[in-house]
Amino acid sequence: MSGNAAATVEFDRAAKQYAGSEDYAIRDLSLTIPAGKLTIFIGPSGSGKTTAMRLVNRMIELTDGDVRVDGVSVKDRSPAELRRGIGYAIQQIGLFPHQTVAENIATVPKLIGWDDKRVKARTTELLELIGLEPELAKRYPAQLSGGQRQRVGVARALAADPPLLLMDEPFGAIDPITRGRLQEEFRRLQTELGKTVIFVTHDIDEALKLGDHIAVLRPGGELAQFATAEELVRDPADEFVEQFVGADRMIARLEWLTQVRGERT
Ligand SMILES: Nc1ncnc2c1ncn2[C@@H]1O[C@H](COP(=O)(O)OP(=O)(O)O)[C@@H](O)[C@H]1O
Ligand SMILES: [Mg+2]
Repeated sequence: MSGNAAATVEFDRAAKQYAGSEDYAIRDLSLTIPAGKLTIFIGPSGSGKTTAMRLVNRMIELTDGDVRVDGVSVKDRSPAELRRGIGYAIQQIGLFPHQTVAENIATVPKLIGWDDKRVKARTTELLELIGLEPELAKRYPAQLSGGQRQRVGVARALAADPPLLLMDEPFGAIDPITRGRLQEEFRRLQTELGKTVIFVTHDIDEALKLGDHIAVLRPGGELAQFATAEELVRDPADEFVEQFVGADRMIARLEWLTQVRGERT
């Protein structure tokens, strides 16, 4: 499947203070998310993961600093235009309940004016790519399992072949076994498609398993460390990261990392 080139995303002293709030949700965040890689934002609840992610597609507006996608500030692009190049998948899935699986997947392609034939071909291709039976195309979200719905959510985010995907705890609400399978399949898919993915999770195992790079946020929305999975486990920047990664289990984690990432490390 040929795709649009992957995008680079730069956070440049990005900050967000919500109206009426004294504290910053994100403070002085600077990091460069490399093209074609899967970068994780992880941190405890309330550390600003969702806020940071939504600054990228302007679902949330910056208070200070900048975010650039392929060198262009998000402030210089209209939210609508920006979002056409950014797939978005969230835990609550947000599938349209009165639309079939096929219609849900076709949302963005239709919006940007693809003809029916192209939309249909793309839907068929995506169902296969994400491992869903073609017959499921005619079903409604309520007629699917949680895991199937999540797959449809990923397919919908990929539909118009965007260079950048934002995923906010996309596998959060799924049982552990299905979740493990989806993680593995998604990892494989991402390697194959070469998209830039920003993936939010609060689950350190998920982060270590999936992330090429991992940004750890601490309470107060500051970046604690930006590193590869291995670096994070071997050389945590401070006590907070050490605790978060589970330093007491470092040896076990290194062995486990070699196992789950074996084909890639
Ligand atoms: N719309 C909002 N208005 C005011 N405060 C918000 C809003 N959304 C999030 N916050 C606050 O910003 C901080 C970061 O939230 P969030 O980005 O959702 O964190 P996370 O995704 O890491 O759990 C939290 O203190 C949260 O209460
Ligand atoms: Mg969140």
